[in-house]
Amino acid sequence: MGVGRGAIESAANAVSRGLGSLKPRVAIVLGSGLGFLADEVGRATRMPYKDIPGFPEPGVAGHKGELVAGTLDGVAVVVQSGRFHLYEGHPPEVAALPARVFHALGVATLILTNAAGGIRPTFRPGTLMLIADHINLMWKNPLIGPVAPGDARFPDMSDPYDGGLRKIARAVARDARIPLEEGVYAGLLGPSYETPAEVRMLQRIGADAVGMSTVPEVIAARARGMRCLGFSTITNLAAGLSAQPLSHAEVLEVGTRVAGQLGSLIKGVLRELR
Ligand code: HPA
Repeated sequence: MGVGRGAIESAANAVSRGLGSLKPRVAIVLGSGLGFLADEVGRATRMPYKDIPGFPEPGVAGHKGELVAGTLDGVAVVVQSGRFHLYEGHPPEVAALPARVFHALGVATLILTNAAGGIRPTFRPGTLMLIADHINLMWKNPLIGPVAPGDARFPDMSDPYDGGLRKIARAVARDARIPLEEGVYAGLLGPSYETPAEVRMLQRIGADAVGMSTVPEVIAARARGMRCLGFSTITNLAAGLSAQPLSHAEVLEVGTRVAGQLGSLIKGVLRELR
């Protein structure tokens, strides 16, 4: 398995042709129901996944399938609207391919968003959480196999979500009076939601939120030295913490409700990176 130079290069070449003279410095990965930011990109070039070799068509409601490149708050960006989840059957190297392609295009900073279930008792649907760290419970890793060209064999993971970027995000939130919590994201394979017993386990091992994405991308990005910043929208209380059963419709609805605040946070961070 593993991913060769060929796969990264051919995808990067296709994207590069679409970019023209634009040199994105920041990539933004949009999670469930958070597609709004792609519409705010100025002078946007849209690249459907079907035009990018190795990028599958996304199959989840709330996820589009395109890269949108242009400028957002004065910064050249590429926005990934629609991601590849392991639970769809994609191997981890496919989940991580966009991050590796962004790196090949010169992107140094990866901003990721996701929807997650809240585990910390004070979290409510609509809480925004800055990801301080993660726990990989997917038991999969995009780095397994031959070392991809440019990757470290044993990348350091002691600062997965960049301390400097998190400091900026906290300052932006404070100035804009947007409540922002900070905590640990547990990444599970899914696609079934957790059982109440699993959520109690996650609570005990130090997770504040649980979701089904982000971890493969961050691992691949760190193996190439990209700085990562992650935000979770807490769309629901994790299983067993409320009387309500979980539904994807609720996840999308809450994601959309706090999308504006999350967008303001991301744009505030971009302004600091100008
Ligand atoms: N569990 C896992 N993933 C999720 C959840 C959840 O409760 N909510 C949104 N994504």
